[in-house]
Amino acid sequence: MAVKKSPKSPFLNQDIVSFDQLSPTLIKKIFSKVPRMRTISQNAKSSDMLKGKIVVLLFYEPSSRTFASFSAAVKQLGGQTVEIIDPTNFSSISKGETFEDTIRTFEAYSDLIVLRHPEKRAAKKAAEAAKFVPIINAGDGVGEHPTQALLDLYTIYEKFGRLDNLTGVMAGDILNDRTIHSLIRGLSLFKNNTLYLLSPKKLRLSSSDMSEFTKRKIELIEIYDYKDMPKNADFWYWTRVQKERFKTKKEYEKVKNKFVLTPELIQEYASLKTIFMHPLRRVGEIDEEVDRDRRAVYLASQIRNGMYVRMALVALVLGGIK
Ligand code: CP
Repeated sequence: MAVKKSPKSPFLNQDIVSFDQLSPTLIKKIFSKVPRMRTISQNAKSSDMLKGKIVVLLFYEPSSRTFASFSAAVKQLGGQTVEIIDPTNFSSISKGETFEDTIRTFEAYSDLIVLRHPEKRAAKKAAEAAKFVPIINAGDGVGEHPTQALLDLYTIYEKFGRLDNLTGVMAGDILNDRTIHSLIRGLSLFKNNTLYLLSPKKLRLSSSDMSEFTKRKIELIEIYDYKDMPKNADFWYWTRVQKERFKTKKEYEKVKNKFVLTPELIQEYASLKTIFMHPLRRVGEIDEEVDRDRRAVYLASQIRNGMYVRMALVALVLGGIK
């Protein structure tokens, strides 16, 4: 069984619960492994980098991309997964077991736990409960989604060859979208980045997040109308309004799809170099016509990079690579 927080490496057996744990050097280290992971994935033979390792995927909230890409990532590297979907109904939690005891139980059977949970800071709580195996945050409520931000940053890096001096538009549910919160943290590690945050006023960043982010070296400009979008953005990062975070359906209906990514919007505000990103799933905030635009990466490299980046991260955390 592993011992957490080995001094031997910045990744070996480390919990990854917030993007704030990563520095530009560590991000570049993960990125340096991605081409090798792509090659492994594209070869017919799987690697044995994670031979003998077992990863528990403990998902309290629905997921397609994060769940499947972690599952495929472990298998591509020769490891195995124990997959627990909806543990609230299908594990001993349904009989009253505590979250902490659940984590302690699954750590006894595994080398790593990947956790998705509806509560902010649940991954931190799990990391405190787990004594022997690391925890990777696969999305904690409205908190963070650090591995999504890693794949988003990689997608930007792959396209532009840099993570500084970028201008981006983030649109949709700025208040609740954890992928936005982690991506802002990520981009704030690099110099001279500017983000336009386009949302209904009700879905702007919380005042606590805004005051936290404005301490960092990133310029955030809140806008509430398409007409204030810059015409020189390197990327647009669209998101869905998160129905599950609203108290009533009526409140959700008032703000859903206020901002829709359409060919007309692209014509008016995008440049030839702008890429169009979305963490997915989408529920009407992107016109499907946009899928055919060669600048749309959300159904292409952004999805594939998810698996390669997670392969690199899991291999580093479990010591399959240095
Ligand atoms: N981007 C993302 O987190 O997608 P899933 O909810 O499908 O994992």
